Amino acid sequence: MTEADTIPPILISPSLLSADFTRLGEELRRMEDAGADWLHVDVMDGHFVPNLTIGPPVVKSLARVARRPLDVHLMITDPLRYAEAYAAAGAQVLTFHVEAVADPGPVIERFRALGMKVGLSLNPDIDVRRLEPWLDHVDLVLVMSVFAGFGGQKFMPQVLDKVRWLREEQRFTKHIEIDGGIDGETVALAARAGANAFVSGSYLFGSADPAEAMRRMRAAAEAARVPAEAR
Ligand code: DX5
Ligand code: ZN
Repeated sequence: MTEADTIPPILISPSLLSADFTRLGEELRRMEDAGADWLHVDVMDGHFVPNLTIGPPVVKSLARVARRPLDVHLMITDPLRYAEAYAAAGAQVLTFHVEAVADPGPVIERFRALGMKVGLSLNPDIDVRRLEPWLDHVDLVLVMSVFAGFGGQKFMPQVLDKVRWLREEQRFTKHIEIDGGIDGETVALAARAGANAFVSGSYLFGSADPAEAMRRMRAAAEAARVPAEAR
């Protein structure tokens, strides 16, 4: 078995934060038709991050029309309090930030008890070793490649050390998702480091042909993850 066999498939998760909010349903469908695997929904509370976005009622409306799993990224200070609301709204993957809570254990347990896949995230300035006790208990790690809060920021390549630490040192075989500044080029850097799930907002929504942009992302990621000797 090669290393590539143990890494989950490539997944593209367009961030609806860059959508036209007056036409969210159409925007979601446009990304699904273009080949999205998941749909990334950024929830911000104005406390954990300065920005304020959407909450459970909008997630519920999206879930009614979505044909792909909703990959909900909570950038909020109290994920435990809102777990049930997001589960009821239809989140399939629910991710919270390790630095937002004193003890991630009960949050992970609660998300799982509510039937969701559990993700754990961290901002660029947070030490990745804080995730170590929880790696066996989560389905996904979301590595932030910009500071959480806004779309359209520049990719920070230094966070790729965290991706390598997870894949190579910890032998983490579940999803490693990367979020922030991902485009047709940075996707290859992230894939080479070991990421398999790629959030992309401004690049995909800003593209005249998102299907072509996703194909390019997928091809670049595939090429980057294949070991050099097999190419
Ligand atoms: C930032 C969000 C991201 C953001 C990505 O806080 O978590 O999901 O929308 O947008 P781009 O791809 O434009 O960096
Ligand atoms: Zn996000």
